[in-house]
Amino acid sequence: MTTDTAAQAAYVVAALLFILSLAGLSQHRTSRSGVVWGIAGMVVALAATVGLASRSISATGLVLIVVATAVGAGIGLWRAKVVEMTGMPELIAIMHSLVGLAATFVGWNGYLDVDAELSGSLLGIHHAEVFIGVFIGAVTFTGSVVAYLKLSARIASRPLTLPGKHVLNIGALVAFVGLTIAFVARPNMGLLIAVTVVALALGAHLVASIGGGDMPVVVSMLNSYSGWAAAASGFLLANNLLIVTGALVGSSGAYLSYIMCKAMNRSFISVIAGGFGTPAAAADEGEQGEHREISAEETAELLGNATSVIITPGYGMAVAQAQYPVAELARKLRERGVEVRFGIHQVAGRLPGHMNVLLAEANVPYDIVLEMDEINDDFAATSVVLVIGANDTVNPAATDNPSSPIAGMPVLHVWEAANVVVFKRSMAAGYAGVQNPLFFRENTQMLFGDAKQRVEDILRGLDALDTPVREMAGTSR
Ligand code: TAP
Repeated sequence: MTTDTAAQAAYVVAALLFILSLAGLSQHRTSRSGVVWGIAGMVVALAATVGLASRSISATGLVLIVVATAVGAGIGLWRAKVVEMTGMPELIAIMHSLVGLAATFVGWNGYLDVDAELSGSLLGIHHAEVFIGVFIGAVTFTGSVVAYLKLSARIASRPLTLPGKHVLNIGALVAFVGLTIAFVARPNMGLLIAVTVVALALGAHLVASIGGGDMPVVVSMLNSYSGWAAAASGFLLANNLLIVTGALVGSSGAYLSYIMCKAMNRSFISVIAGGFGTPAAAADEGEQGEHREISAEETAELLGNATSVIITPGYGMAVAQAQYPVAELARKLRERGVEVRFGIHQVAGRLPGHMNVLLAEANVPYDIVLEMDEINDDFAATSVVLVIGANDTVNPAATDNPSSPIAGMPVLHVWEAANVVVFKRSMAAGYAGVQNPLFFRENTQMLFGDAKQRVEDILRGLDALDTPVREMAGTSR
């Protein structure tokens, strides 16, 4: 068997392993094995690629490949080891930017190093591939860098609203089509530079125009773009595995974006077109009135007298690492005979399933952790809601204020409960950068401070309460 045949066979095996990996990752139960399949696929793919390359490059070239692989793997291992769960989306975003950059370089290389055997229409197709690869790669690169900057709060998450922003986006697409036709007819470096600049600007502008609340969709959309960028590189390099893998990542990322848009009641087209059709800017939020404060001891008393409690955690619970005392609080209240449940919003935190993972880590029983749709009708009959480090996901403006940037996004109806206690450190806005009228409602009280410390204070307060523990054994509610 020649090296080429062996490598092609290995590519088929790697492609199958990647498909198994995606299937495994689609469920919590099988996600670990999904990751293992993915690692195995990548090892096979790398070994086959190095084997193929070894036929045509010098020993020095081979050493360079091994060194580059070792350095890349070292950086990847280090970053993945030190990253906090809350920093995962920005890590993913910056990794997508590298895929985009690689695709741009592969495209440029395809122009600078044209196969001498290509001629006629095949050469035209090659030049179209160069252009498309560079365009998708450069859009992915700057889009991902801006997403990284927004997610890591290095720049504001508010949408950028340049005058005529949609005309600018459409203009860039029209320019891309025109430049591609010109490049295929008469390839030259000036046109390639022009398309690179247009694509870099378009990527940055598209993502800068998207508001914080839509960022989860943007991350999965960039995931999809990075897949298409890899597939474009696959065509240029005549590498079947890159084409297959790129198409898998591209289509699964697009489908995930679509599912997330449906869950957040967003138009898919609107989000991928940089907020097309959404309000230009946050409406003037005006004076909201006064907020009321509550102490941890008073909260303990409120909880001690409650019959039913719903806890709605958010990003702040993850930052404070408050899941363990929160689980302890739930346990103690249940021992007192209080009905305790958790209400989870699908985009609470910074990555899909974030809250579920944290609560599972702290051994909160699955059967009291409910999805938003399962619990939203129950708030009205609830004595106390504890909003622990959540903000956008409990914002009534999403339902009440059509000009709010998060208007239409489904939210947890916490304000319908008799009492709402909001745990946060200040009156600052949430991730989407919009004020939350919940904080100023009659039935809401603010418990300021780090969520973990405040929950621990409440636990002490509960211990100090002289309320007798209700007789639960044998009683039905
Ligand atoms: P956010 O709206 O981000 O609000 C988090 C709240 O936690 C803030 O109000 C913050 O207020 C508070 N907080 C931060 N650190 C705290 C601490 N140590 N102790 C107590 N409170 C603390 O959270 P959310 O309701 O979970 O909403 C998630 C947002 O992130 C949505 O806009 C969503 O679209 C976006 N997003 C989600 C994802 C996914 S897929 N889940 C990915 C990217 C973005 P203070 O600063 O005043 O304390």
